[in-house]
Amino acid sequence: SIRVGDRQKIHVNSDFTSEKKMVKICCIGAGYVGGPTMAVIALKCPSVEVAVVDISVPRITAWNSDQLPIYEPGLDDVVKQCRGKNLFFSTDVEKHVREADIVFVSVNTPTKTRGLGAGKAADLTYWESAARMIADVSVSDKIVVEKSTVPVKTAEAIEKILTHNSKGIKFQILSNPEFLAEGTAIEDLFKPDRVLIGGRETPEGFAAVKALKDIYSQWVPEERILTTNLWSAELSKLAANAFLAQRISSVNAMSALCEATGANVTEVSYAVGKDSRIGPKFLNSSVGFGGSCFQKDILNLVYICECNGLPEVAEYWKQVIKINDYQKTRFVNRIVSSMFNTVSNKKIAVLGFAFKKDTGDTRETPAIDVCKGLIGDKARISIYDPQVTEEQIQRDLTMNKFDWDHPLHLQPMSPTTVKQVSVAWDAYAATKDAHGICILTEWDEFKKLDYEKIFENMQKPAFVFDGRNVVDAEKLRKIGFIVYSIVDGVQLAGEAMDAVHQRASGFLSEIQEDAEIEFGFVSNDQKLGEERLVDVKHRRNQLVPWETRIKSISRNEEEPVNLNLGFLRNEQILVEEDIGSDEESASFLGHKCELESGDTEFVTECDKRNVEHLLITRKQSNDEGLGLLSAVPFTIGVKFYSSSVFSNKI
Ligand SMILES: NC(=O)c1ccc[n+]([C@@H]2O[C@H](COP(=O)([O-])OP(=O)(O)OC[C@H]3O[C@@H](n4cnc5c(N)ncnc54)[C@H](O)[C@@H]3O)[C@@H](O)[C@H]2O)c1
Repeated sequence: SIRVGDRQKIHVNSDFTSEKKMVKICCIGAGYVGGPTMAVIALKCPSVEVAVVDISVPRITAWNSDQLPIYEPGLDDVVKQCRGKNLFFSTDVEKHVREADIVFVSVNTPTKTRGLGAGKAADLTYWESAARMIADVSVSDKIVVEKSTVPVKTAEAIEKILTHNSKGIKFQILSNPEFLAEGTAIEDLFKPDRVLIGGRETPEGFAAVKALKDIYSQWVPEERILTTNLWSAELSKLAANAFLAQRISSVNAMSALCEATGANVTEVSYAVGKDSRIGPKFLNSSVGFGGSCFQKDILNLVYICECNGLPEVAEYWKQVIKINDYQKTRFVNRIVSSMFNTVSNKKIAVLGFAFKKDTGDTRETPAIDVCKGLIGDKARISIYDPQVTEEQIQRDLTMNKFDWDHPLHLQPMSPTTVKQVSVAWDAYAATKDAHGICILTEWDEFKKLDYEKIFENMQKPAFVFDGRNVVDAEKLRKIGFIVYSIVDGVQLAGEAMDAVHQRASGFLSEIQEDAEIEFGFVSNDQKLGEERLVDVKHRRNQLVPWETRIKSISRNEEEPVNLNLGFLRNEQILVEEDIGSDEESASFLGHKCELESGDTEFVTECDKRNVEHLLITRKQSNDEGLGLLSAVPFTIGVKFYSSSVFSNKI
């Protein structure tokens, strides 16, 4: 085996393997880790008897049925080959623990929701109760293996619990963190990059390490089995997850900058990843990472740093979570602002709910935050995911933060449903009559959908917000969709642009005398193509490109029309200018605004960072201030110009 550093040799005389014929393993916790890991051990080690136990009766029933409780490519096959031979699933926790030589503990280690360290520290309730139970029921020596991800130094606490109650029975604690990734669990378990085993640096500790190594070495090459001290093994798992999540947050932070500057984040990450010191993997930008581990493990790491008097280090890792939250919020904001600043009562199809493809796991999936954000803005949501049930979706959307990671039987079974949410049986049903589509999981089937058909059945303009870089944006734009992709931001192709223009001008020509017209842009989102044109009275919004010129201001009566221009932020008027009437020119914020009769043009330019809306009001000559409207009907025509950046994009 490879030891980190030059350490003492491992003693070979193991009590657990060499002297007994059939090694008995029991794994407490039949979840995403316990189930697949033990199934693969059973498959690869026919001389080992493996029992997987859990307190959740429905979970164990499912493991013993044809409908396994988790979806994982290849898992069915492995379970079918071993179940009933040397692989058993049971709720008789105590019996199997009592009989086992090696007990893996793979129970939940969620984030604490209350008390000391709430919102950060790992909640070891389930781990501790498992340890107490092991101590209670054991009648022979055992190796206890930490399979769950735990804070560094957990083994010390577990040792205390076990030895204080042990009636003279000897326990050896090992840390053997699991590095599998959901969606590729079986592949990862068959060919792990490494297996990490940490143990006490005592003869008994080395013997225990050797016993566990003997199991893995039945299919894992020797050089991939690393042995370390207990604390290194425990910390390596937290560190690995923190590094992985950090890569995603780093590239997502870059995606925001790319959107602001016209760089393409796929091109940037490809170029960055070509550096062999950095490498290409895990550099896809997306709506954010999810899954049960990254957030919880990093929060745990942050807490450990704080407890060790390292606030700067804690802050450093906390930022990885903050960027992830920022990315999700940014995505929701993008949807709302692109759809004319409101999604109220609009149907939005959500394609994909699981935190990534090839799993039905929804723990901490970004879809939860994105859906909650849209629901908050009163959207109607129709969700389709090939592996997630309606019950699960409803539960996720009603559950409190961090409650999801508690054992299944402790989670609400029939939560109050969110009425604005429906679940569809396929992507076509979900998208029918929708105003927009959000792609939140990179399921392969979303690449192959008939988007022409989908487009036909949607409301227009039809939007696609691709949070996973799944669709061919150019192809969809040709169909007529307005596409926002994490990779290249908003790009409106010719036809889509025309459609927007037509609608915008149609809308404008409807505006009559009582109009107070506001058009402008969102100052905190620099991306092109999402400025809004808002009829204040009717709250009808329109999408207009960045640089907009008023083409003509004509009136139906001879009387001069005075127009006022106001610049707004946070509903406050920053500057108000009388831009005069026909045949006048006015200087406005240092820029010349020319108004000529007939084909009047003025170019609006202002400090984009400071202004949210440009407000144009018309007032009677005898009126003072904004908002008093003339009874004289008039129309404003708007001509759209593309800025240079914008034309580049098209
Ligand atoms: N999911 C992953 O990708 C992954 C990868 C590596 C490590 N981990 C770690 O592995 C651990 C388990 O994760 P998971 O995804 O398998 O969780 P999970 O929720 O799918 O499974 C945990 C199971 O433990 C059971 N359980 C809890 N307390 C118990 C007790 N006292 N006795 C018997 N059963 C009990 C629960 O009922 C549940 O079925 C966590 O610490 C996690 O951080 C997870």
